[in-house]
Amino acid sequence: SGIPKFVTPLLVPPTMPRTRRSGPGGPVDHYDISVRQFVQQVLPAELPATTVWGYGPAAGGVGRALHHAPSMTIEAEHGVPVRIRWINGLVDADGRYLPHLLPVDPTLHWANPEQRPGPDGVPRTDIRPDLTGLTYVPHDQFTDPQTQYTTYRGPVPVVIHLHGAMGMGDESDGYPEAWYLPDAVDLPAGHAPYGAWYAFFRGKSEDLHWVDWGPGEQVAHYPNANRDSTLWFHDHALGITRLNVYAGPAGFYLLRGGEHGEQNVLDARTGRPAVLPANAPAASRGRGRVPTYEIPLAIQDRSFNADGSLFYPDTRAFFDGYEGPFVGEGESPIAPVWNPEFFGDAIIVNGRTWPSVELEQRRYRLRFLNGCGSRFLILDLDGVAGARAHQIGNDGGFLPAPHDLADDGMQLLLGPAERADVILDLTDVEEGSYEIRNLGPDEPYGGGVVGVDFDPADAESTGLVLGLTVVPARGRDRTTPAEHLVLPAPPAPPTEVRVRRLALLEHMHDIHDHEVEEGEAPAAALLGVLHGDPTVRAEAQPLTWADPVSENPAVGDTEVWEFYNLTADAHPVHVHETPFEVLDRRAISVEEAEYVVGVGDPLGPVPAGDRGLKDTVISYPETVTRVRMTFTNSGQFVWHCHVLEHEDNEMMRPYRVGPVQE
Ligand code: C2O
Ligand code: CU
Repeated sequence: SGIPKFVTPLLVPPTMPRTRRSGPGGPVDHYDISVRQFVQQVLPAELPATTVWGYGPAAGGVGRALHHAPSMTIEAEHGVPVRIRWINGLVDADGRYLPHLLPVDPTLHWANPEQRPGPDGVPRTDIRPDLTGLTYVPHDQFTDPQTQYTTYRGPVPVVIHLHGAMGMGDESDGYPEAWYLPDAVDLPAGHAPYGAWYAFFRGKSEDLHWVDWGPGEQVAHYPNANRDSTLWFHDHALGITRLNVYAGPAGFYLLRGGEHGEQNVLDARTGRPAVLPANAPAASRGRGRVPTYEIPLAIQDRSFNADGSLFYPDTRAFFDGYEGPFVGEGESPIAPVWNPEFFGDAIIVNGRTWPSVELEQRRYRLRFLNGCGSRFLILDLDGVAGARAHQIGNDGGFLPAPHDLADDGMQLLLGPAERADVILDLTDVEEGSYEIRNLGPDEPYGGGVVGVDFDPADAESTGLVLGLTVVPARGRDRTTPAEHLVLPAPPAPPTEVRVRRLALLEHMHDIHDHEVEEGEAPAAALLGVLHGDPTVRAEAQPLTWADPVSENPAVGDTEVWEFYNLTADAHPVHVHETPFEVLDRRAISVEEAEYVVGVGDPLGPVPAGDRGLKDTVISYPETVTRVRMTFTNSGQFVWHCHVLEHEDNEMMRPYRVGPVQE
């Protein structure tokens, strides 16, 4: 890509200002945060700016200038609840709704505000439109407003999820069908202002938390019961998450303190509290020349049109290798817009393409997030000669012990949505310029424990991530070397009362029951359950989002969930609300992409970065990944693949803790 590299300074997101701290019965941190559309210089300054969406403080006239993609970072304290009024602000200056920045596929099962009759004749949203009998049109006429397959141009549904949060009620979790439209002055008649579950959750929230949800907003209450960890928030509207997140709205949520908090990290040499790299007071962070030693890094891939706008494919023909009849012909067997994966050709870090950061010869704490839709990253620190790096935390907080990345060739694998808390030690690195690179593929990831080969990302573009300029330290580094850190490990969950066998599948039939042929991409990725004994022969049963809840633990139950991956790709599996312990991975024998006919022994010890607690785990092809977790809170949550293109086309299922409601 012709975009100049390492010419723009890295932006470190400043701290999100609270609206206030208050609340009956103890402190509660209040925020009012809107998602808005604005222009941001994502590309280097000499190139055009990009219209994006992002979160920022909703209050006052200054709010607009503080919106950014990714947003300012929320700093939360363990045990101090945070209440956020999330506002859908996707309106223009006159209060009229803004259409989506990207092409919406109206044939997926999505958060569709256009009401349609359901199977029972009652108007409903959230159902896959009945396309039987309609004619597909050639993709070059696809956006013609006279055809059936125009993309949706109405107001944009959103709903926000705090990824990795636990101990919430489901009313705060950002359920995909609890989406809502902006409170626009010109909402089209016949559009539902919110999704099927919104009113239910709003009612619960009002009962529990003494707050009203106004039009065009959701109010979420996060108890911050988690361990000290790197969380992040992003959009989660049904069937449109890949587009909403691609447009920009995401942010870090750093939770500190508690029994497993950073103040309980010790220095092994003295037994006394360790010193971790930290920042100047929040108020001065991100401005001027105040040194920043703890840096969250959201790594994402994007593509741009020549005018600087975001590119996302608007036809299925984009899918590389797809040669089905949709290209230039009259009939398409598959969804017209949805692609099974999307790989942008540019890397952005904290909202700018290939930025560069000046770092001193000392230790830094880097909080990496893979915020890509489909791309697995293999971050390569080997080019920073003389650097040492230890991973000290992952999705669920601190690892049981620091993990020296030199043992992995200075590489760090992160599937979409995974996080890594890393101490990067530049003390012995010579002054000069270096790069953090990416060795992950520009295609679906199938590597890892099963050793599937792939080509690494293009070394001149997506193989580059972040430029480093190392300069002398401006003062003494008093932080504890990572190898001496004693980390507060979590207690392992108790023994399970139940094992559930779950399946990751591909759906080779489209909505017209066209069977997808050799060489075509699958029509959808799915989750399901496994029936029978997988050591002998078990059959995978695919389930869709609309199928009834099949996983229904009781409050307090500990369960093992086994993810049997019958596909050719790795999938990052995320369970909402309940962090888990990774027990092991085992090779499985798969027949006809539908049957498991054998299970091997554990494939070695659990990788160091998967120890402790996780909320997202890589499920490798032809492998079963086993996790154990305790369900502490009742309610309706989801689990899904975090390849957003998969999540948006049926690779997501509801699960419920406690009684299933009518
Ligand atoms: Cu990061 Cu269900 O999401
Ligand atoms: Cu997937």
